[in-house]
Amino acid sequence: MTKDEFETLLIRGAFDVDPATGALAPPIYQTATYKQFELGVEQRFDYSRSANPTRALLEERIALLEEGRHGYAFSSGMAAITAVLCLFRSGDEILVPRDLYGGTLRLLDAHFKNFGLNWRAVDTTDPDSLKRALSPATRAIILESPTNPTLRVSDIAAVCEIARSRAVLSIVDNTFLTPYFQRPITMGADIVIHSATKYLAGHNDVLAGLVVLKDDALAEQFQMIQKSTGGVLAPFDSYLLMRGMKTLAVRLDKESESALAIARWLSSRPEAAHVYYPGLDTDPGYAINSRQAEAAGGLLSFDLDEKHDIKKFTSSLKLFTLAESLGSVESMACHPATMSHASISAEMREEMGISDRLIRLAVGLEGLPALIWDLEKAFGASRL
Ligand SMILES: Cc1ncc(COP(=O)(O)O)c(C=O)c1O
Repeated sequence: MTKDEFETLLIRGAFDVDPATGALAPPIYQTATYKQFELGVEQRFDYSRSANPTRALLEERIALLEEGRHGYAFSSGMAAITAVLCLFRSGDEILVPRDLYGGTLRLLDAHFKNFGLNWRAVDTTDPDSLKRALSPATRAIILESPTNPTLRVSDIAAVCEIARSRAVLSIVDNTFLTPYFQRPITMGADIVIHSATKYLAGHNDVLAGLVVLKDDALAEQFQMIQKSTGGVLAPFDSYLLMRGMKTLAVRLDKESESALAIARWLSSRPEAAHVYYPGLDTDPGYAINSRQAEAAGGLLSFDLDEKHDIKKFTSSLKLFTLAESLGSVESMACHPATMSHASISAEMREEMGISDRLIRLAVGLEGLPALIWDLEKAFGASRL
């Protein structure tokens, strides 16, 4: 799909105008149930946990944007991931990246493990070692590329090919680059997941999760899981998410451009001991990311050098709001060791390459000079 086609689908995909009224905005069907017109005759909409017209439009649109065939909307990214994990059974094993999103790791380790679903962390950036790590019990590989917060890049096509050759499902969490920059299904992925709370919604005003599948048989099974577990997205939130998605392309272009400029600026500063951003040609993920994605996105991280106080640095930031989450029009900063990854043990964080001095920046739409000024001022205020 070309950039033009994608941008058009963002606005017009699966909905032009409401045929009943001519309304340009999709109607919000705020209803739990529907009249059954004839006993025993199946209708597309009978109860909103199973299907709702506003949610259905969003589900169709995300399937088009990811170049999949079936879309599903959930009340959060974690609800979406929970539903995906319900595809597996006791004794199955799932391979995950070493720095998988902490919430997904917690879900696997604290909950699904109790039902006999096992997981193992592997280096997904090295396809050969990943191939060796597969066991007869492996049923799926979960990928994030780039990962959060150390922005490691995996070769999506290579990993999906390994999975396919062993009849293992490939699941890609595409939250950070979105289908605007990267479309895993076109690289062979079976399942794409989103925390749509982030870049897709883009305005810090809705929690949502999305799943896209390409296989019809898997979709039939998954549809039943969505209906049975019931963590679906409400009609108003489905509307809000579609509204946010309309500006995805323009938001991401600017956020990614600003992130690259900030990453370059940080690379020239002694206060940043190491910069993690696959848009920098010095980054180990640069070559693969440039091949499989249109850009490196709006997320970057760096290690604050020892001569600066991390608490003072974060409290001196004004435009980069210290907050959980990312992907919104507002720029945000996060200290993963005490925030997003606090529930993970210090040893495990070290293994994942998350130092106590790591700062993650989610670049929003404020002016670039103002964002750089904010960082410069915080460097000055936090010098020891
Ligand atoms: C990569 C990734 N996947 C999933 C999630 C969970 O999404 P949500 O917070 O919408 O439940 C997050 C949240 O930060 C995330 O970063």
